Order: sequence, then structure tokens, then C-alpha cells
Amino acid sequence: MGIEACEVVRLPKISDPRGNLTFIESGQSPIPFDIRRVYYLYDVPGGEARGGHAHRKLQQLIIAANGSFDVVLDDGFQRKTVTLNKSYEGLLVSTMVWRELVNFSSGSVCLVLASEHYDESDYYRNYDDFRGVVASKK
Ligand code: TYD
Repeated sequence: MGIEACEVVRLPKISDPRGNLTFIESGQSPIPFDIRRVYYLYDVPGGEARGGHAHRKLQQLIIAANGSFDVVLDDGFQRKTVTLNKSYEGLLVSTMVWRELVNFSSGSVCLVLASEHYDESDYYRNYDDFRGVVASKK
């Protein structure tokens, strides 16, 4: 838990004059969870933000499969911004971390590998509620 546990991990990259290749296997290093869901954000208009929530249980790996964007992480006490701009890097986001995705470059694709199926009850979508819960657990 907390933003210290959120780190950028390097993914395997098979460089090839025909084009590069990166692969990810469920539950294999550097992914500390089994992948139950994949989704991706694309055609994000300039200036838009995505995310704006935290998860009780879900962990995820966020990858800039194309282009770049910033991920603002906030565990209720500390905040940090991580720029993702390499197809062979991913940001691990642990439980109980508020995240917002901003500054999407044109044509960027945000690929997300998640540890859980979609479940709306796993979300905090109100920052003050989230902040109240983490503060009460401190
Ligand atoms: P939302 O959580 O707002 O996206 P963001 O990642 O920007 O916070 O999701 C937008 C809509 O898509 C919302 O109605 C829930 C739905 N959704 C699914 O049905 N399945 C999914 O796996 C995801 C991520 C979202």
C-alpha cells in the first residue's frame, strides 16, 4: 500500500529490425498478480483527464503502449507524478492509491492490466471519502 509501493518496472523487450516486441505473463515477474482483465484508453482528447479513483483490492500495471501521459499518484498523505512514455515500461499501482491520468499526447494508448474483474464496489470515486478512510487507518 502507499505510493512507495508504486514503481516503474521494466518489461522484456525483444529488439528486432522488423519491429520491437514486449510480452507480459500473468503472475510472472515483474507482475506481482494474476491478470484478470485488460483494458485500454485511446482517442483521449487533448487536455482530458482519466482515472480519478482508487481501488480497495485491485492492483494494476499501467503502460503507455503508445505515446505518453502522466500518472498522478496520491495515497492520501503523499503525491507523486510519474511520466510514462516507453512501450517497455509499466507503472505498478497498488491498492488504496488515488490515481489520475493527465497530459495524454496525441495518439497515445494507455494499456491497463488489472488483478480483478470489473467491480464497481471496489472503487472509491470520491476523493474526500478515500482520504477519510486512509486517514482513519493511519
Ligand atoms: P471509468 O472508471 O470512469 O474510467 P477511468 O479509468 O477513466 O476512471 O470507466 C468508464 C466507464 O467504463 C464506466 O461506466 C465503467 C466502465 N468500465 C467497464 O464497464 N469495465 C471496465 O473494465 C472499466 C475499466 C470501465
